Amino acid sequence: MSILFEPIQVGNMKVKNRFLRSATYYALADEDGFVGEASVDLIAGLAENDVGLVVTGFAYVRTDGRSILDQNGIHTDDHIPCYRKMTDAVHDVDGLVAMQINHGGANAYAASYRGDDYMAVSVYEDMPKFRKPAREMKEEDIESIIDSYGQAARRVQEAGFDGVQIHGAHGYLVSQFLSPVTNRRQDKWGGSLDNRMRFVVEVTRAIKKEVDEDFPVMIKLGVRDYVGDGHGLTIEEGAEVARTLEREGLCLVEISHGISTERRLILGITKPEQEVCFRDDAQVVRDATEGPTCLVAGFRSLPVMEETLASGVTDMIGISRPLIREPDLIRRWKNGDTAKSECISCGDCFGTQEKGRHRIGCRQIKKENSD
Ligand SMILES: Cc1cc2nc3c(=O)[nH]c(=O)nc-3n(C[C@H](O)[C@H](O)[C@H](O)COP(=O)(O)O)c2cc1C
Repeated sequence: MSILFEPIQVGNMKVKNRFLRSATYYALADEDGFVGEASVDLIAGLAENDVGLVVTGFAYVRTDGRSILDQNGIHTDDHIPCYRKMTDAVHDVDGLVAMQINHGGANAYAASYRGDDYMAVSVYEDMPKFRKPAREMKEEDIESIIDSYGQAARRVQEAGFDGVQIHGAHGYLVSQFLSPVTNRRQDKWGGSLDNRMRFVVEVTRAIKKEVDEDFPVMIKLGVRDYVGDGHGLTIEEGAEVARTLEREGLCLVEISHGISTERRLILGITKPEQEVCFRDDAQVVRDATEGPTCLVAGFRSLPVMEETLASGVTDMIGISRPLIREPDLIRRWKNGDTAKSECISCGDCFGTQEKGRHRIGCRQIKKENSD
């Protein structure tokens, strides 16, 4: 049997194989962040099709952290019942599901467009601008957002999820605090790495305070910014953050990138040598941590995944776009059809935006895989 189908222990979860569906926003929530049948079917369908651990799309912990109008929300207790339907459906098929929770900070586009309170870690001249300008977070804003993460995680556990994942990547609030490009604060939340990581450490502690001791708390961490001429978060710093968070009790670090927008969706991955986008970074994190770790971005073919796992650089394989193209991909592989993912990484899964709404889906016209 392939090493990819060997089980792994992640905190108190026994995951049946090495596949993690990396968090993928699906534009299925209503304008108040409630999810319905379509979201339940999507997530339970992935679990039924043998994804070992499914992570939901990012959910906002409060409305001023909302990035997209139809994004999942976990900002009130009223949201618990709709997610309970999702976790029940996943558990009915013996699956595991975690929720990714997030605050968008300066990337809370929806908050800006709706005229909600809209805040950034730092406000500076060349920052991205949306409809309403951001104001700089005050000390009490930061404390209150940290508390919101704790409350959101409590709801996640009450809704029956098997774990919670902090979104610490891709330029959202945790990333914004970690990056010296977006964090220009001179107080205890900015400057040295210890100060820049204070926010995510405090978020972790707030979450751990609200959930059971053995409830799995994980992070998708942007371990390196990939911006400009090396002024962003470096991989050495990212690895130090990962090590610190492990010591704070996080049971899985999923490795991704930080504030870079170019790295957000790497396009045109059609050859094995283009796969495993952040392998070198994963190795640095691996050397600095106890594990387990998960690596995401660019995995398309089984031999590449097997080799990556066997090399010890990661313990789990994170996948997003291939599961948009083929939600039953892992089952197909398990059943012996080992052809690589049909996804050509065209990046069209986001589709067109209509009145602030996306339509997520695969738009490849036909099977056009190159080899
Ligand atoms: C439609 C879409 C939605 C995404 N939503 C999220 C999200 O909610 N949270 C997150 O951490 N990453 C999100 N991502 C990024 C993916 O999880 C993943 O990191 C990236 O697509 C690279 O992996 P892949 O090559 O397997 O697609 C999204 C990607 C896509 C294509």
